[in-house]
Amino acid sequence: MKILITDGLEPEAVVMLRKAHEVSVQELDSKALLGAIPPYHALIVRSRTKVTKEVLDRGASLKVVGRAGVGVDNIDVTAATARRIVVVNAPTASTVSVAELAVGHMLSLFRHLPEADRSVKEGKWEKARLEGRELFGKTLGLLGSGRIGAEVAKRAQAFGMRVIAYDPYLPRPAAESLGIRLVEKDVVFREADVLSVHAALTSETKGMVGATELALMKREAILVNCARGEIVQEAALADALTAKTISGAAIDVFEREPPVGSPLLAAPNVVFTPHLGASTTEAQTRAGTLIAEQVMKALGGQRPEFVVNPGVYS
Ligand code: MLT
Repeated sequence: MKILITDGLEPEAVVMLRKAHEVSVQELDSKALLGAIPPYHALIVRSRTKVTKEVLDRGASLKVVGRAGVGVDNIDVTAATARRIVVVNAPTASTVSVAELAVGHMLSLFRHLPEADRSVKEGKWEKARLEGRELFGKTLGLLGSGRIGAEVAKRAQAFGMRVIAYDPYLPRPAAESLGIRLVEKDVVFREADVLSVHAALTSETKGMVGATELALMKREAILVNCARGEIVQEAALADALTAKTISGAAIDVFEREPPVGSPLLAAPNVVFTPHLGASTTEAQTRAGTLIAEQVMKALGGQRPEFVVNPGVYS
């Protein structure tokens, strides 16, 4: 069968797919994708390609769309389900990588690492100005605690942090077995010294961190977002940082990527990375091989493990 890969994929995954299928790797803009899609049975994307209803409607032969990563917010899953196109992702591939980045950002902000690096390179020796804080003894507040949040919690506990979470979908016994105390949303904002966002982007979570929530946070607290930019209202966060009602933020994801014109770019005490959560050799290798397996199963008529829209099988 014919497989189109539009955002690149690990070479070993492409080799796996080519053993059984005809594979084309092309970087296409949205117009070119509409023209190219009709003969393909499978489409594999990362986050760049937007798999819109229009793309799915034009994909007359499409049986499966594979997302080599976790978030499927760039895929119109409802439209795919309506056309009985299976959507699969690789939800376990980047869990550790994203968790490590989030913890790295916490340490980096608490110890002023980017600023310290700049200062030494400028020939300065500012030990007093760059005095930091320990994570030990602080409270980590998780906004969302699925696979990634749980890994962040384990690492935070190893640093001696207390972990609380707001996650309406996490059963209490599961939270307890992870040593996480489930709390109401306003409590997570009020009590966290470090608030780390680990929710998926849905209509429920979009914009859920706004001025009202930020106003609940402690002045010395920091916010880390390695999940999705649209969960945090950027203008409200920029205002909170400027007014120093929170002490800092680390942002890996933006409402629009790249974040041209974002008010956050001019805000003080914020450290950025360009959506690097899953950008490790290990995560990309796992995502590539996992999605290749999932897509091949779907094309072969088997039910893959990580189906995002199980309704297609009902
Ligand atoms: C994911 O959802 O897999 C990560 O955020 C990485 C990405 O979107 O590229």
